Amino acid sequence: GSTSLYLYQGFWCPSEATLKAIISFQRHFQAQETDLILASSPKSGTTWLKALAFMIVNRARCALNESPLLTTSPQELVPTIEFDLYMRSQCPNLEDLPCPRILSTHIPFASLPGSIKDSKCRIVYVCRNPFDQFVSYWHFLLHLPHENVEPLSLDESFELFCKGVHAFGPFWDHVSGFWKASLERPDKVLFFKYEDMKADIIFHIKRLAEFLGLPFSEEEGKKGVIEEISRLCSFETLKDLEVNKYGKQVYGTPNSAFFRKGKVGDWANHLTPAMAECLKKLIEGKFGASGLTFEMSC
Ligand code: A3P
Repeated sequence: GSTSLYLYQGFWCPSEATLKAIISFQRHFQAQETDLILASSPKSGTTWLKALAFMIVNRARCALNESPLLTTSPQELVPTIEFDLYMRSQCPNLEDLPCPRILSTHIPFASLPGSIKDSKCRIVYVCRNPFDQFVSYWHFLLHLPHENVEPLSLDESFELFCKGVHAFGPFWDHVSGFWKASLERPDKVLFFKYEDMKADIIFHIKRLAEFLGLPFSEEEGKKGVIEEISRLCSFETLKDLEVNKYGKQVYGTPNSAFFRKGKVGDWANHLTPAMAECLKKLIEGKFGASGLTFEMSC
């Protein structure tokens, strides 16, 4: 097999088209103070975070049982800047998007445009344990259109992952960049882990709402709005919606590719104990001093 990753500013872009889009994004994007940027390494829980952020921000605009989330994919409600906005046009018109704009990106913190880093806009980052993230991404790649390129085997991909060669990676640099930013500027960058969200989603919905300056009122609490949002955004609900089952992204990826298993620990069905041991050591070495650890199973 072969791969077509492009090294740019110390991270790996998944294609030439993505690289071009990223450069336009960096050059032209103007953050607004009210923007909400959802950041992640691909396959870390972006779709879930998109759904949650959309629901929290728009909860007062319409009844939950009439939410756009029921008929529109999270990818469409919250576009990924480099793929959905700058891939088709160098200067897309982003002024008309409803305010606050909720957008997502996979670009590492260090490479974000200055206006995102320096303005008052907020960033929410979600990370996932590298074992599940790697396995999820490997499956996801099988759904992407491959123009005469054989997808890599799991073993080949794993070897590259461990060398840091991975979409928007090295993985550890990506996570560390946002982790440090969240410690230095806690009112600007909120740091989530997929596994923590799985363990207590209600707590994380409240935490996200508070960070956004949109805490739930007592009345909302009594009415069970938080529970409703958690149910609506759950893997089970979203996976079974018509739009997510049969819809497609503009660039061809079926929406269903964003909903596979939604579990913590599925890596154990794909990585051998030797592979797992190797990655565990590597990750301990990379994150040892940072205070950041990962749950590998539930
Ligand atoms: P798996 O491949 O392990 O199932 P991203 O959204 O960043 O592209 O990540 C996709 C991963 O998140 C997939 O993981 C997918 O199944 C899972 N996922 C998608 N929606 C989810 C949700 N609402 N709750 C929990 N996990 C979700």
